[in-house]
Amino acid sequence: MDILGLGYLGIDAPDPDAWLAFGRDLIGLDTGRAPVAPPYVDAGQDGRGPDGSVYFRIDDWSWRLAVHPMVPGRERPGLRYLGFELPGAAELDVAIAELEAAGCAVRRGDAADCVARAVTGIAFTSDPSGNALELFYGPLVTNNYRNSKGIEFLTGQLGMGHVNLFTSNYDACAAFYTDVLGFRLTDYYEVGEGQLINFFHINPRHHTIGLMKVAPFDAIHHIMFETTDIDMVGLAYDRVKAAGSKITASLGRHSNDRIISFYVESPSGVEIEMGWGAMTVGPDWTPRYRGPGDIWGHHGLTSDAIAEGGKDK
Ligand SMILES: [Fe+2]
Repeated sequence: MDILGLGYLGIDAPDPDAWLAFGRDLIGLDTGRAPVAPPYVDAGQDGRGPDGSVYFRIDDWSWRLAVHPMVPGRERPGLRYLGFELPGAAELDVAIAELEAAGCAVRRGDAADCVARAVTGIAFTSDPSGNALELFYGPLVTNNYRNSKGIEFLTGQLGMGHVNLFTSNYDACAAFYTDVLGFRLTDYYEVGEGQLINFFHINPRHHTIGLMKVAPFDAIHHIMFETTDIDMVGLAYDRVKAAGSKITASLGRHSNDRIISFYVESPSGVEIEMGWGAMTVGPDWTPRYRGPGDIWGHHGLTSDAIAEGGKDK
């Protein structure tokens, strides 16, 4: 399977409008265009979809992060879907065949599904933890993007960022992401007896997926956005502090991907990591057994705090 990277992701929230203010005014994401059918003339840039969803953009893609209203009956907000980009139609056919051969339920999307995600082709499946996964090609781009706060987000061949997921069945999930989707282990980290936080790459970004075996539930812990300038991280840190947002990890530098970042709790509970300076990995990378901790900072980001916080996500 020829996945290029994490193209987009969707979460849900009890109050997408609160998320709109948080994402736009504090993190520095821009409002995107809600997906509509061609010729796109009615697609505004206020980020709002007709169902109350909110769409953000961070580069030339028409959107990268969607925050949807909660579906009735859903117990808690969290991850709705991860969208992985493929090069084109032939690779989507191969991906569908490989998923079916692996015994995974997969559905090819129709024209309406493509409109809903602003892509050219799409298929749907899920991982062993039940996270909805979408494989797509041909995202709608505009080539006119300028961030309103002067932030340049590091995307391109690295994808939109990374996510860390709690998983209650780590072994099956790790096997799925590596053996079926083609991710490769970057490094592995023991945080306690039987507790793992392992990191997987699909392109030069140090990790696109982190899988956490720290607690018996399935949930999303954080979404990471990376900037090209450390000052953009510092300015965002000042904004969230001034707004009184809950900073769950102070400014610090991870020992594995060497990113300088901070973590802040979003209005729906999922944490946002905003960072700069992460290392990249090449095709000759071999997995590393990583020692504990951060080089400095990230106070508050203990395995107990991570597990405790995940209960609400
Ligand atoms: Fe992270």
